[in-house]
Amino acid sequence: MSKIKFYTDLNVPLEMHKVRIVQKLELLPVEARVRSIREAGFNTFLLQNKDVYLDMLTDSGVNAMSDKQQAAMFTADDAYAGSTTFTRLQKKLEELFKMKYFLPTHQGRAAENIICLGLSNEGQCCLMNYHFTTMKAHLVSQGATICECMAPEGIEVRSNNPFKGNADLKMMREEIESQGRENICFVRMEAGTNLIGGQPFSLANLRSVRDICVEYGLPLVLDASLLADNLFFIKRREEECKDWSIREITAAIADCCDVIYFSARKLGFARGGGICVREESMYRALRGHVAMYEGFLTYGGMSVREMEAITIGLEETMDEDYIRQSPEFIEYMVNALVKRGIPVVTPAGGLGVHLNAMEFVEHIPQTQYPACALAAACYISGGIRGMERGTLSEQRNPDGSEPLANMELLRLALPRRVFTLSQVEYAIDRIVWLYDQRKKISGLRWVEEPEILRFFFGRLEPFNDWPEELAEQFRKDFGDSL
Ligand code: F0G
Repeated sequence: MSKIKFYTDLNVPLEMHKVRIVQKLELLPVEARVRSIREAGFNTFLLQNKDVYLDMLTDSGVNAMSDKQQAAMFTADDAYAGSTTFTRLQKKLEELFKMKYFLPTHQGRAAENIICLGLSNEGQCCLMNYHFTTMKAHLVSQGATICECMAPEGIEVRSNNPFKGNADLKMMREEIESQGRENICFVRMEAGTNLIGGQPFSLANLRSVRDICVEYGLPLVLDASLLADNLFFIKRREEECKDWSIREITAAIADCCDVIYFSARKLGFARGGGICVREESMYRALRGHVAMYEGFLTYGGMSVREMEAITIGLEETMDEDYIRQSPEFIEYMVNALVKRGIPVVTPAGGLGVHLNAMEFVEHIPQTQYPACALAAACYISGGIRGMERGTLSEQRNPDGSEPLANMELLRLALPRRVFTLSQVEYAIDRIVWLYDQRKKISGLRWVEEPEILRFFFGRLEPFNDWPEELAEQFRKDFGDSL
């Protein structure tokens, strides 16, 4: 697709789709927003969606479906066993990834559970470019450990590196040598590396990782949940691939891997998940776990309607016009914020815009959860719901001490094909205002801290009345505006 140029000096990303089903949104007055975030214990997970104007919590399960996906859902073949819907999905995956076997699961973390049950043993280590929370949790519960083989640049907030998700090959090799091949369960590469800001790996890097895996006889497992963004970035940023089709890049990536798993809440614009496997022996090692934890092998906990939608959604992922929309909107938003001196992760990645709370609210110590305070402030300023990705999302050590996160980010996700550019402009506007008022924001402390997954259910409170003061300033600056 060649870029569409404007006659005037406008330079905006242009959607190649139109909206045909809409959902009414509400924007509460700022005073009501303060009440809602207080009721939610300053945890954006606990906000009611009806009180949210722009839901930028996640892209998971909230991407917009196409007309073709919706139509396909009506023709789904409901059967416990042997559904033709499943066969269609399996054939589509085989066509794209050239892997013969497919195990369905109800979502991404279920696929991770099955892989860890089948491929990891107690005491073994999983090498990876970077961890994702749910995969780490499954490995740890198996008694395994993780080792992140990532260059320090990956977690630098500002960078020009187009492939911050790349694995550090030297480190990977050294880990295998020092730990011993038999103590490594598998190597995991994550596309569109979520926790460092949706950053991609290059095809060249993946190929080198594959060479290491072949040399040592280790399985290479790809987390393809955020593959769509990674495909787009390879096409745009990797010289070798600039004239390749998305389908060709997909085939080249898949060719490196032994296992590809994904959350279809992200990949394929629907809801579900699964594991593609190259070798029959590995398929056999995993399938019993699917039957035990997920469901029969032709649905794995997914509704057949969703499976039809995923099949079409995977095909749509091969369409550059579709997959470019979200990263282009993200880039537009990142550029606008950078221009105004607002600290964000660069280069722009996939999934969403990541504000750097460590700089945005540099006066708040990490022990008072700056990214969580910023998330609450962002909701107060514009009814925008983001997700804390910092210390609060970490787990306490067994001795009760608290590990401080590498990065304190507020993630503002841009689910695919959902928001309009004027809504993105609105979000930019409110963040610019908030940045001017940043000194008013202060820290949070626990009221109720759950032992596991505290970021989902935990409740906090501010040290003073900063939320009310922020709302007062809003009234002064915006008058009777919502
Ligand atoms: N892998 C990656 C890279 C993910 O981003 C996620 C989910 C999963 C696996 C687990 O998939 O949710 O279907 O069980 N990420 C969501 C997010 C939760 O908001 O980033 P799941």
